[in-house]
Amino acid sequence: MINVSIVGAGQTKFGRHDDYDLRELFALAAHEAIEEAGLTPKDIEAAFIGNLSADQFNRQTHIAPLMADFAGMKGIPATKCEAACASSATALRAAILAIESGQHEVVMAAGVEKMTDLPTPGVIETLAMAADQIFEANPGITFPGIFAVLAVAHMAKYGTTKEQLAKVAVKNHANAVHNPLAHYQKAITLEKALTSRMVAWPLGLFDCSPISDGAAAVIVTKTKKARKFNDTPVKIIASAQANDTMNLCDRTDLTSLYAARTAAKRAYQQAKLAPVDIPFAEVHDCFTIAEIIATEDLGFFKPGKGGQAVEEGLTEIDGQITINPSGGLKAKGHPVGATGVAQIIELYHQLRNEAGKRQVSSPNYGLAHNVGGTGATCAIHICERW
Ligand SMILES: CC(C)(COP(=O)(O)OP(=O)(O)OC[C@H]1O[C@@H](n2cnc3c(N)ncnc32)[C@H](O)[C@@H]1OP(=O)(O)O)[C@@H](O)C(=O)NCCC(=O)NCCS
Repeated sequence: MINVSIVGAGQTKFGRHDDYDLRELFALAAHEAIEEAGLTPKDIEAAFIGNLSADQFNRQTHIAPLMADFAGMKGIPATKCEAACASSATALRAAILAIESGQHEVVMAAGVEKMTDLPTPGVIETLAMAADQIFEANPGITFPGIFAVLAVAHMAKYGTTKEQLAKVAVKNHANAVHNPLAHYQKAITLEKALTSRMVAWPLGLFDCSPISDGAAAVIVTKTKKARKFNDTPVKIIASAQANDTMNLCDRTDLTSLYAARTAAKRAYQQAKLAPVDIPFAEVHDCFTIAEIIATEDLGFFKPGKGGQAVEEGLTEIDGQITINPSGGLKAKGHPVGATGVAQIIELYHQLRNEAGKRQVSSPNYGLAHNVGGTGATCAIHICERW
């Protein structure tokens, strides 16, 4: 069992931020998290910061000390964590391990990405660097293209339909209407999703997460000291991570992510919980098919039944298991390095019953599933209401 709790959380709005640069976005989220914990930047003993590619997006490397220093955290170990789109979930794991090891007591886990400094073709090329260069990126495949391969495999094996994919987008856009920090706070119809321009068949515009800027930060500490900083902390009771082959050609099954199934098994063991005990989850819906696969890999639905589940409304806010109440990556946005910690922040707010109109009915537990690339990394956290 893990003995770490969240005592502060801060997140910028996700979307296009022309008025803030990378370090300013980071500082906005970091200061909000620090203040909520009743601390000052000088109280933070270490910072782990998720970021995919400030080098390509913003021509800036060595970002962790730069971010920490700009936010007023001087002389601390500040470390960048990179695991593609799972970067900040691995930053959170590093923060948890730093506390569990006894090295530190008050640690920041954060993530930041400013993608819109590059035009779309440059973003797509940069993101493709998280695929296998020799066998995937250099021959020309893009991330929408790779997830389209998974979608086609799922459709062929289980009969999943384009309507079911579109329903994921409709649900997540509807949830994001109630999330003031979401990139897109607008509902869409099924028809709009189905008739949007094609990106990589069968994935259209509304099957894709957008290109976003944003930052997210949490402060974590030992559970037994958490109440010193916050009246309503949230416990982290599982932190698991697993890897898989980078190259899809090396996999035997394209309808499920081995890293997700493996990390999920470990997380449930650590938390002493089963999928049926989880009332809501933030899952990595970088593309609509990814949400359907995630709900199967996490054991919420049987393999092949995730599409039917979304079609029947089982994953809506008041459904059997709520998936992506925040709006998910699809509508909340996906500034890749910030996504994992932003998922944890949604867990934090939901478990404190402060999520407003997107609140799940008094949940005791929440799960966050953050995938890097096409599943070469998956990191899963489970949180519990105090
Ligand atoms: C799908 C994609 C190519 C669209 O980019 P684009 O063609 O440059 O789109 P634009 O920025 O020109 O936007 C055109 C319109 O579509 C909207 N839009 C863009 N992406 C959108 C998305 N994913 N969902 C919904 N609307 C979107 C814009 O807001 C804009 O609307 P407006 O005309 O009302 O202002 C881009 O969003 C993308 O690459 N997404 C995937 C990102 C990714 O791979 N992430 C990593 C996952 S592992």
